[in-house]
Amino acid sequence: MIDLDGLAEAECLPLRDWTPARERMLQEVLEGLQRTEKSIPSKLLYDARGSELFERICELDEYYLTRTELAIMEDHAPEMAAQLGPGCLLIEYGSGSGRKTRLLLDQLEDPCAYVPIDISREALRQSAETLALLYPTLPVLPVCADYTGRYEIPKTETDALRRVVYFPGSTIGNFTPEEALEFLKHVTEVGGPGGGLLVGVDLEKDRARLEAAYDDASGVTAAFELNVLARINREFGADFRPERFDYESRYNDLMRRIEMYLVSRRTQQVRIDGVEIPFECGERIQTEYAYKYNLETFARLAELVGLQVERVWKDREDLFSVQYLTWE
Ligand SMILES: C[S@@+](CC[C@H](N)C(=O)[O-])C[C@H]1O[C@@H](n2cnc3c(N)ncnc32)[C@H](O)[C@@H]1O
Repeated sequence: MIDLDGLAEAECLPLRDWTPARERMLQEVLEGLQRTEKSIPSKLLYDARGSELFERICELDEYYLTRTELAIMEDHAPEMAAQLGPGCLLIEYGSGSGRKTRLLLDQLEDPCAYVPIDISREALRQSAETLALLYPTLPVLPVCADYTGRYEIPKTETDALRRVVYFPGSTIGNFTPEEALEFLKHVTEVGGPGGGLLVGVDLEKDRARLEAAYDDASGVTAAFELNVLARINREFGADFRPERFDYESRYNDLMRRIEMYLVSRRTQQVRIDGVEIPFECGERIQTEYAYKYNLETFARLAELVGLQVERVWKDREDLFSVQYLTWE
């Protein structure tokens, strides 16, 4: 591993900007908060502060996901790289810090380019610049976008032998199964014929372990979730008072998902862009889901849109999986 301290500042990488317009984001916020069951889109959790807090979550004892996935990557990255093959275009969704990506890039044979796609601009810029320094011969082509929205994959100088989508972090668990299907279908379109998907999928496990991972004792997850209210205040001129909300999460074993909520501590009114949003005491805003799968349920879901699981790598405790899927 290269020591980052010794590296010079990267030249500013051009960022392809497909960030959703403010008006569109505002509309999504208002729509979610005007429903009977209030919600905020989870993508809004990731502003610069949100991404910083997420990196702190990754270091928590309770948050087994990151260290387990990293350990799987450390043990099996050479096999994964062999599976992806030489000359691939690596497209990463929700690239975040890019820590796991480095383990893969260290092993990949002559990748033609790396395209990180993330909605969190500063985190994307930082990680793309770091990777460009670490892999000076690799074209790094960052795209700031909502990966469920409109964007284009940048053109590369050399043609890829195959397009591979990398989607670590069990971020796929933030989608409902219906949304995940839609997304997987989109991945096959972006990857094109003969493409591949390397995806991190968190596995079902005992309730206590799951609930602790999403509600740590030191309150970092709560700060991460509550930060979205400050963001909505700043960007959309709202008057949320975050101290008037509590963070709560629980595992819904029927739905096989962790549910995350901000709960109003009192009856109150919040104003967003001139619209009054009333809250009863105890009323919840759903901010995020984290669906959990087992190998069969995930394979069945993927098959519905024509993806076959080729390989699965897991840790010894069966906590987490990294899976390689292909389609025709
Ligand atoms: C759970 S974090 C995972 C980060 C990193 N891949 C990892 O494994 O640690 C989710 C990442 O996806 C990004 N993200 C979430 N929703 C997104 C969306 N709709 N479009 C683009 N990026 C999104 C966030 O900014 C964040 O970097």
